Amino acid sequence: MLPIRRDLKFKLPGDRMRDWNAAGPHVSQFFNTLSIFFPSGERFFIDSVRYYRDRIADPQLQQAVTAFIGQEAMHGREHIEYNEALAASGMPAMAMERLGIRLLKLGKKILPHADQLAITIALEHFTAILADILLREPQLLQGAEPRFAALWRWHALEETEHKAVAYDVYQQVIGTGAGAYVRRALALAALTVIFWSLVIPFHLIIVARDGGLFDLKGWWTLVRYHWLKPGALRRIIPAYFDYYRPGFHPWQHDNRRFLADIEAIAQNYRAAA
Ligand SMILES: [Fe+2]
Ligand SMILES: [Fe+2]
Repeated sequence: MLPIRRDLKFKLPGDRMRDWNAAGPHVSQFFNTLSIFFPSGERFFIDSVRYYRDRIADPQLQQAVTAFIGQEAMHGREHIEYNEALAASGMPAMAMERLGIRLLKLGKKILPHADQLAITIALEHFTAILADILLREPQLLQGAEPRFAALWRWHALEETEHKAVAYDVYQQVIGTGAGAYVRRALALAALTVIFWSLVIPFHLIIVARDGGLFDLKGWWTLVRYHWLKPGALRRIIPAYFDYYRPGFHPWQHDNRRFLADIEAIAQNYRAAA
């Protein structure tokens, strides 16, 4: 699987920021909260993989790494615009983003490069399983504003396309033994705690700023969306735990059939030359 860098522009309609998802503001703002973390997170992924690029013997994997870096850079660029529109809608997106940047900077300063790569593959697993459910369950984006839906679909498709790249790098340069296993498993366990302890309060703050804090119907919609029907988070739980198997590899979840949709999006949103 060789990923391809695609230069797409989505030009999101900022006035739809709070209700672009048909499930309403609480769900829309949940996705918006995730967007806040992408530019700095993807920058971190790029740097952690780039550090090891020269040590990769396999020329095909080297090529995949270049494409991985290109894809994440494009995602970062589009999510920066997304987050600017979120900030323009009155949300404290920039302050939240700065906190994420500070945490990642600290990680870069105090952690060995092997741990930084372990963080990258753990978060890539997280994005890959979220991407999978987004592609598998059309209801999650049904009726959504088309540009927002296309951006999230494109991101999910490219995350799928490159989901094993950083993992393969990790296996080549860190290894597949017990030490490498413990390092990557601990990284996912720690990041799961860190991730939700940032996303949940940020989402609460954004919903509160949007006036929905006491809107019980809105919260119920979000609970139903994630835990009942269609059950986005509920349904990623088994795939999440697969990562803790010593012999795990991302392509054991073979969902490449979704990638057939990618060119249709690319044609519609290709950046003007
Ligand atoms: Fe990405
Ligand atoms: Fe990624």
